[in-house]
Amino acid sequence: MRTILSRSAPLRGEITVPGDKSVSHRAVMLGSIAKGTTEITGFLSGADCLSTVDCFRRLGVEISVNEQEGKVTVCGRGLRGLRPASDPVNLYTGNSGTTTRIISGILAPQPFTSVISGDASIATRPMRRIMQPLSQMGAHIESVNGNDCAPLRIEGRDLHGITYHSPVASAQVKSSILCAGLYAEGVTEVVEPSLSRDHTERMLRAFGAEIDSFEEKDGWHARTKTCPELEARRIHVPGDISSAAYFIAAASLIPGSEILIRGVGINPTRAGMIEVAQSMGADISILGIRRDSAEPATDLLVRYAPLHGVTIGGSVIPALIDEIPVLAVMAACAEGTTYIKDAAELKFKETDRIDTITKGLSAIGCSVVPENDGMIIEGNSGAPLTGSAIKTYGDHRIAMAFSVAALAARGETVIDDEHCVDVSYPGFYRDLDSL
Ligand code: S3P
Repeated sequence: MRTILSRSAPLRGEITVPGDKSVSHRAVMLGSIAKGTTEITGFLSGADCLSTVDCFRRLGVEISVNEQEGKVTVCGRGLRGLRPASDPVNLYTGNSGTTTRIISGILAPQPFTSVISGDASIATRPMRRIMQPLSQMGAHIESVNGNDCAPLRIEGRDLHGITYHSPVASAQVKSSILCAGLYAEGVTEVVEPSLSRDHTERMLRAFGAEIDSFEEKDGWHARTKTCPELEARRIHVPGDISSAAYFIAAASLIPGSEILIRGVGINPTRAGMIEVAQSMGADISILGIRRDSAEPATDLLVRYAPLHGVTIGGSVIPALIDEIPVLAVMAACAEGTTYIKDAAELKFKETDRIDTITKGLSAIGCSVVPENDGMIIEGNSGAPLTGSAIKTYGDHRIAMAFSVAALAARGETVIDDEHCVDVSYPGFYRDLDSL
């Protein structure tokens, strides 16, 4: 539980947010199946990424983690070198959908059996989206309880390449198939309706795999083929834009604020929140772009600015899907109405976020109408929101988004579970208090 008071003093100062969660996961996964030693800096030592580390340790990979310094060393075993602790090997992925889905693609072609399970949230998240394409490639993968959710039992098989038209733009689905494709005979291609985050493609390329990505009339294609071996390399993980988003919102909402956020990853497939916040009137300056490993990064200067409602929908959605809770909070404090559309995927996140955002916004006095693929939010146009009791349902992004809302609300807000932020941002409250 955490109580947060309304804030009248501006936020000022500098902050460096922790490493990107998606890139941290992939660095450990690809490092584990590469030949040689992968040194990772800027690693996010949040519970989700530590679940990935734990899974690969159980698969025989030596991984050392310095949580304080964000340094990880992965002694890769090569594509065919995983040595499970037992057969079947039981892997626990905690709250992490990314671990569960991508590791399934790596395990499907291995010469052993794996059983993957996670926490209560993972046990309700849809896995058919990876089971179906992996099965088409020849995998033997079943949902132990027959409900298309984890636990999953995967018996290793030889795979063959396919072309898969994914009904959803999902980087977890795409990455799972591409990882399986490294082992599969022939060419493996994923076509998605809009471009989802492309960290896997970038990192695979950096590790020496052949990857083509291009847009055609039928969607975005990512193509790979049988890979002899991946080569280890150094990886620097940029700051997580999904974590930076809470501070962008907080500085935008509290009058007089001015903060500098250092080293934030702004891969275009992730940076939709900046573009949309700017279209709402946010004052965000991008201070020069550099390349950290295969990912672009920058410093962001954010100053308070009055916001107005916008329509958020279409192909930008995959580039800000995890930032919708905090964008919804910004919309609640803006002038006018915000329409969020084409975001039905919100229902399949750590919680059904159409539902959990609606409940949170209603609790703080905002008028919101949930829709099947988003929501309509009436901005309070300057009238303060009301501090309230917020139920997170164990969802880290709901906790952080409504902690930001609390700063702009009248009175006191109580977040029921402050520890759920640990999966992606263990130092969140310390950093928020430091500004
Ligand atoms: C992620 C992809 C997204 C995102 C999730 C992390 C990833 O999910 O919401 O938090 O690292 O690949 P989907 O692939 O289901 O869209």
